[in-house]
Amino acid sequence: MNHPVLEAWSSNRAFIFAVTGAAVGLGNIWRFPYLTGENGGSVFLLLYLFFMLVIGLPIMIAEIGLGRAGRAGPMQALMRLAQGAGARPQWRYLAVFGGLTLFLILSFYSMVSGWSLAYLVKSVDGSLAQQSPEVIAGAFGQLMSNPGLMLLCHTLFLLLTLGVVAAGVNQGLERLNTYLMPLLYLLLLLLAAYAVTTPGFAEAMRYLFLPDFNAVSWKVVLDAMGQAFFTLAVGACALMAYGAYMPEDQSLPRAAVVVALLDVGVALLAGIAIFALVFSHQLEPTSGPGLMFITLPIAFSELPLSHLLSLGFFLLLLLATWTSSINLAEPLVAMLKDRGWSRLRGTAVIGLGVWILGSLAALSFNVMAEVYPLGFLGGVFAEKNLFGLLTSIPTDIFLPLGGLLIAIFAVYIVPVADIRAAIGGSETFYLLWRRMTAKLAIPLTGLLLLTSVLTFWGV
Ligand code: PFF
Ligand code: NA
Repeated sequence: MNHPVLEAWSSNRAFIFAVTGAAVGLGNIWRFPYLTGENGGSVFLLLYLFFMLVIGLPIMIAEIGLGRAGRAGPMQALMRLAQGAGARPQWRYLAVFGGLTLFLILSFYSMVSGWSLAYLVKSVDGSLAQQSPEVIAGAFGQLMSNPGLMLLCHTLFLLLTLGVVAAGVNQGLERLNTYLMPLLYLLLLLLAAYAVTTPGFAEAMRYLFLPDFNAVSWKVVLDAMGQAFFTLAVGACALMAYGAYMPEDQSLPRAAVVVALLDVGVALLAGIAIFALVFSHQLEPTSGPGLMFITLPIAFSELPLSHLLSLGFFLLLLLATWTSSINLAEPLVAMLKDRGWSRLRGTAVIGLGVWILGSLAALSFNVMAEVYPLGFLGGVFAEKNLFGLLTSIPTDIFLPLGGLLIAIFAVYIVPVADIRAAIGGSETFYLLWRRMTAKLAIPLTGLLLLTSVLTFWGV
């Protein structure tokens, strides 16, 4: 029996779940906490929240709106809209630039997501259960100094991702995700609740929320902006494709607000859980990419049912990163398919490239730790190994640059009536979006982007 209200509700929900699948991943649970720690805590966190609101959210609405207005995949949508507006068809290369960004991000994303596989094994064999924090931290160090194991993890995770993309069953996984992601949120809620009972909780709250303005620097500001783009999956045209399938009557701003709230919520829960553990055990907030992989296993080891909690957490994390990495890979394969390639061939070629780059990035933790591929450029480049480059340039420069162009295209190129119809929702919401994008998001992103290029060269 058809029930229009229920059907509309379920397809509205499907859209929100799909975009949340792309948004929630390593960015929230792994990258957000370690960047917060590297950048001294509260100031980074508050800037990140500010940028989510004034940059991330408006540009996310612009990006999905363009897909909805163009009713096609990113490249075609951009071309169609540009032609309709009498603008240059070259705007379509924005999707190619986005593709390059996605490719670079996927290489480290797959490699790091693979670490969850190693931790799944550790959860099953119980090697971290009831161990001291030193042993648990040591286990992370051992993984990082074992290039063979890291390559195996990266390879397996990439095969998982490519398998789904090659078979074109992304939607099936999305459906699974719909049912299982609430469990991840629940588990993080549980960990945050446990964090409240630990001795480091009060200090963690001060560290995260009490602003210490001595900690402000350009690096903090730029990292916070990059993280806002990365965590929402905005700026690489990956979200554009979703717009094309959005139900007619769904309010885009409202859906985007829901996704952003979920995304921020997951990051905050992870941050609270992790920093309470950091301060309870006198660990270093600045321990970098290992932070989550050290602190959460410590929490599990202290809790009852530690095997089960640890297994459940890493399975759910794997699923969250799986859907995000599929969202990174799919637009690349789709782009090649549009050029007449078969899905299989496109997946194989992209996969090979990502495998090579990700494998080299894994070596940044051991044999290539002190190889600085772009060192000849000077500035910050002189101290960034491959992993450092991959986790900063695509996320902190390419995503904001793509996002800036997307926003400019949506506000100044596409005819107002088209973008108005695509965004839907109330007039107030729409005007608010337009004003925020034109007056805040575009100038602020442009300014910070310029600053970030200058600081990269140490100017
Ligand atoms: N938003 C994802 C995360 O926070 O883990 C990362 C990501 C996925 C970025 C997909 C870009 C993208 F297209
Ligand atoms: Na995210």
